[in-house]
Amino acid sequence: MPALVLLGAQWGDEGKGKATDLLGGSVDYVVRYQGGNNAGHTVVVGDQKYALHLLPSGILSPGCTPVIGNGVVVDPSVLLSELSGLNERGVDTSKLLISGNAHIITPYNVTVDKVTERFLGKRKIGTTGRGIGPTYADKINRVGIRVQDLYDESILTQKVEAALDVKNQILTKLYNRRAIAVDQVVEELLTYAQKLAPYVADTVLVLNQALEDDKVVLFEGGQGTLLDIDHGTYPFVTSSNPTAGGACTGAGVGPTKISRVIGILKAYTTRVGAGPFPTELFDADGEALRRIGGERGVTTGRDRRCGWFDAVIARYATRVNGLTDFFLTKLDVLTGWEQIPVCVAYEIDGRRVEELPYSQTDFHHAKPVYENLPGWSEDITGAKSFSDLPKNAQNYVKALEEMSGAPISAIGVGPGRDETIEINSFL
Ligand code: GDP
Ligand code: IMO
Ligand code: MG
Repeated sequence: MPALVLLGAQWGDEGKGKATDLLGGSVDYVVRYQGGNNAGHTVVVGDQKYALHLLPSGILSPGCTPVIGNGVVVDPSVLLSELSGLNERGVDTSKLLISGNAHIITPYNVTVDKVTERFLGKRKIGTTGRGIGPTYADKINRVGIRVQDLYDESILTQKVEAALDVKNQILTKLYNRRAIAVDQVVEELLTYAQKLAPYVADTVLVLNQALEDDKVVLFEGGQGTLLDIDHGTYPFVTSSNPTAGGACTGAGVGPTKISRVIGILKAYTTRVGAGPFPTELFDADGEALRRIGGERGVTTGRDRRCGWFDAVIARYATRVNGLTDFFLTKLDVLTGWEQIPVCVAYEIDGRRVEELPYSQTDFHHAKPVYENLPGWSEDITGAKSFSDLPKNAQNYVKALEEMSGAPISAIGVGPGRDETIEINSFL
């Protein structure tokens, strides 16, 4: 019953899409368990580049069944256009399964996301504007719309009415916007019902039966540990649980079934949107990381904030996720620096702190304590094994491993599927 969780160990965009795709050929199911189309996962196969938002990256592996679990929030129009985009490129998407319990991102959730951010002004979170937060808020408030509601017009209408009752008051009276008509929303949602019908399934049952049958199931996280609603840099977070526990609730699989938890870790750090980021660079090094690493958002096209590797965060990710392995990505991007600073601890109000402070105030005051590691100048994109790496690159990886608290079992040296050094097998 091998069940693996693969998740972001930093603030997202660590290269989860590539890592999932790499394993996709050897697993039977790839499951998204949280988030929605706020995610942007880039997968490069040969000379083809795919940008996935809602679909699990396993969709590109023919033998693999992609699953959208109950914990995901689904924008049906985005899903359908992603599916047709892939179909046009010859990708077979017919195996996709969608949980009937997944919540739907309605048009009014997208509106509320955008107007709330505008209202917050300089205190905004910098969300992706895809309606993620408001949809999860509706779920928790018990006024959400689920995929299964598309198949009962009367229930759907009642639920949309209930949701809009309060929202229209807020939209018109607080935000000075026009009210949204119930009929219009219901009509739009019903147009998706037939198109999605072939995919809707009891995914909890399917996945648990698969595990009983010894199939290999991979749970693919969106976002990252520091964007987790409980364990991240709240309130500058997303509205779901990308951390390992989220895989259990977001897919309906018990924790006893999970055998391996792999943290995807970039060899430096990036962040999109607002919030604290101790190792952020505002100089030529930051600009160089952005340029060489191609650090521009796949979903919103925003430039990513860039900084050096932060071992405090990596240790924290190991702890809150129970990581068994790391997949270190984008090591190639660091080629060419004479010295590479790595943050080993923070200085907070004159004190040296080794672990992530739980207090938001402390974290906002955290200044990185750096150790300089010697760099390398050789091109490493063709490296196939650890020993192919220059000595200083090997030492950089070993130092990160020691500081981060879990073995580095694979190293990315380029965006392509084959630009990976496998050290320990994941399966
Ligand atoms: P995700 O959201 O975690 O799936 O990551 P993104 O796709 O948003 O961002 C990661 C970017 O890095 C993508 O453009 C990938 O193609 C690219 N990438 C992944 N691994 C590597 C690597 O090892 N080296 C390089 N140079 N690029 C990589
Ligand atoms: P992947 O899966 C990086 C960030 C947004 C914002 C915050 C809240 O590609 O790693 P939301 O729209 O989720 O309410 O925005 O979370 N964010 C991401 N940052 N990668 C992502 O996904 C992200 N998804 C959300 O920028 O700061
Ligand atoms: Mg991304």
